Amino acid sequence: MGRGEEPGRAGIGRVKKERESRRTMAVKTVRLRPGETLIEMRGICKHYVMGDEIVRANDNVNLTIRMGEFVSIVGKSGSGKSTLMNIIGALDVPTSGLYLLGGEDVGDMTQNELADIRNRMIGFVFQQYNLLPKLNILENVELPLLYAHVSAEEREERAYRQLERVGLGDKAKNMPNQLSGGQQQRVSIARALAGNPSPAAGGRAHRRAGFEDQPADPGILPGAER
Ligand SMILES: Nc1ncnc2c1ncn2[C@@H]1O[C@H](COP(=O)(O)OP(=O)(O)O)[C@@H](O)[C@H]1O
Ligand SMILES: [Mg+2]
Repeated sequence: MGRGEEPGRAGIGRVKKERESRRTMAVKTVRLRPGETLIEMRGICKHYVMGDEIVRANDNVNLTIRMGEFVSIVGKSGSGKSTLMNIIGALDVPTSGLYLLGGEDVGDMTQNELADIRNRMIGFVFQQYNLLPKLNILENVELPLLYAHVSAEEREERAYRQLERVGLGDKAKNMPNQLSGGQQQRVSIARALAGNPSPAAGGRAHRRAGFEDQPADPGILPGAER
């Protein structure tokens, strides 16, 4: 995927209208308000060397996403969407270019630093819901809070609130296999939002209520509401 409008390349679609919200979001010590820059990419490249050939999965991507924006990445198969999503979600680093997430330079982070910024700043909604089968759905939603060392009481309270937001407050004690596919996807969304991330990453599947069942491929949801 590259800079141009050439056919077959992935493109960025965005909903201009920013959400009306005076809330601020905690990003480490920085507090971002709606309209402030959350994701800043300049000249991002991800090139793979395959024998004699270089595959330019992402080639000079420039992208700015502000707090409160809804953004979709569209393009045909192989145009570089997943590659870009993995970089945005701090699951992978670019070959070259600058990526600032909430003002922090992701490009040269170690695996541990990437894990830390993911936990603090990104919520993932996977297309395969990746719920842990032996935990009930409340416990599943609590997981990112557990890793973030939130106290047990606050974990439960915040997880329950997110389940209520997605209409599953009455199913908190259900096991994942006792839910429909769409309900499991909503649990995955609640889990992504429970950690109060800035952007939340979700796959193609969050696009509609009728969720597709495709391999994990994170996409982006807007920042979580408090
Ligand atoms: N790990 C990899 N090694 C080599 N080539 C890769 C790798 N990952 C992706 N690619 C190639 O990069 C291009 C973009 O892939 P991808 O980002 O998965 O596209 P999309 O998600 O838009 O379908 C494809 O040509 C793919 O074959
Ligand atoms: Mg893909």
